[in-house]
Amino acid sequence: MAETLRIGLIGLGGVVTRAHLPSLAARPDVTVRAGAEIDAYQRDRTQQRFGIPRTYATYQEMLEEEPLDAVYVCLPNALHYQAASAALDRGLHVYCEKPVGLCAQEAQDLAEHAERAGLVLMPGYHMRFHEHFLRARKLLIERRLGKILQIQASAVYSGPYRGWDPKSDWYFDPRSGGVLYDWGSHLLDLLVYVANLEIETVSAVAQKSLPGLPIADSFAASFRARRDIVGTLNLAWGTRGNLLMLQIHGTAGSLLVSDDYYEHRMPTGGGLNKLATLLANARELLTQKASAVLRRRPSDTLHARATRVFIEAIRGEVEVHNYKWDAVRVHYMLATIAAAVEHGGPVRSGVPRERTYEGAA
Ligand SMILES: NC(=O)c1ccc[n+]([C@@H]2O[C@H](COP(=O)([O-])OP(=O)(O)OC[C@H]3O[C@@H](n4cnc5c(N)ncnc54)[C@H](O)[C@@H]3O)[C@@H](O)[C@H]2O)c1
Repeated sequence: MAETLRIGLIGLGGVVTRAHLPSLAARPDVTVRAGAEIDAYQRDRTQQRFGIPRTYATYQEMLEEEPLDAVYVCLPNALHYQAASAALDRGLHVYCEKPVGLCAQEAQDLAEHAERAGLVLMPGYHMRFHEHFLRARKLLIERRLGKILQIQASAVYSGPYRGWDPKSDWYFDPRSGGVLYDWGSHLLDLLVYVANLEIETVSAVAQKSLPGLPIADSFAASFRARRDIVGTLNLAWGTRGNLLMLQIHGTAGSLLVSDDYYEHRMPTGGGLNKLATLLANARELLTQKASAVLRRRPSDTLHARATRVFIEAIRGEVEVHNYKWDAVRVHYMLATIAAAVEHGGPVRSGVPRERTYEGAA
């Protein structure tokens, strides 16, 4: 493999221009060789702004013409599978934006394909690289919350709105899964990563906030999961607060964690205990605020961290084998919630009984 990794970008839209191109540009060990974008205006604009050497109208042409080591698949959700498969077929490592494919079968096919070919398939779930969620994961691995009883998880964001950018109206195409597959996939990935959640049954309701909207943009679900955990999920586009929060409650304490908040609540003890808890939480928040200032640098955003892990995995320096199987688990849970909405009553998860995706090979 070349010293400098040669990257191709498939789709030159919002997430590429806001996140991946700045992250890649800040790295001395990669070079963006080419991009594929169907929209001529977007293609030319992005090429000029970021100085991409060559661009193509189709990714098939780019894969045919360019000597590459890896690609970023940043297309509308319905096109991930096809593009990621084509890149894996050519022996390229793939960073695939979330959700990985449209369903568990597509995600599983891609995971198996990558495994057979000995290639890295990295899902674009960058929120797991946030220090709050990493810390939360460590706390749970150390069992410092005791036995987990309840989880409440929310992802409520302004989201896209129709017509804001006509090329991005695919967000409202029912095939793309709406807010459930957009923010719901991030939320479920965090629940898998932080709490090893495996939902077994779900009841859910969904709603459209605007008349004429082709897909639901507001969901509420309650679930029962393995290890006798029960919980709720709330998802919405169209809110203004922008919050991604997990509340995890166990027999030894509770954790409230979001991208800008972290609180570990322990059993109320004496005044000194309470003071120690308050100080520990304040320290965590201050550390986070300081690192958020540093993260404004393109080299240390969450997307840049995801890219760093992708590159290191390609070079064999870190292991991300499980990440793609986590993406399959996420899909099973998304499908269960979608089925629960459709069904109007509790729905059993479709994960095959004999199979576990925990560390699957
Ligand atoms: N990880 C994150 O935080 C995050 C954030 C935003 C988007 N995303 C994901 O990234 C993907 C892209 O989202 P976006 O917001 O950048 O959307 P976007 O609409 O801004 O960009 C998609 C681009 O793909 C282009 N395109 C469509 N069909 C094509 C084809 N056949 N060949 C080449 N180009 C084609 C479109 O013209 C558009 O420019 C989605 O899967 C989305 O879920 C992830």
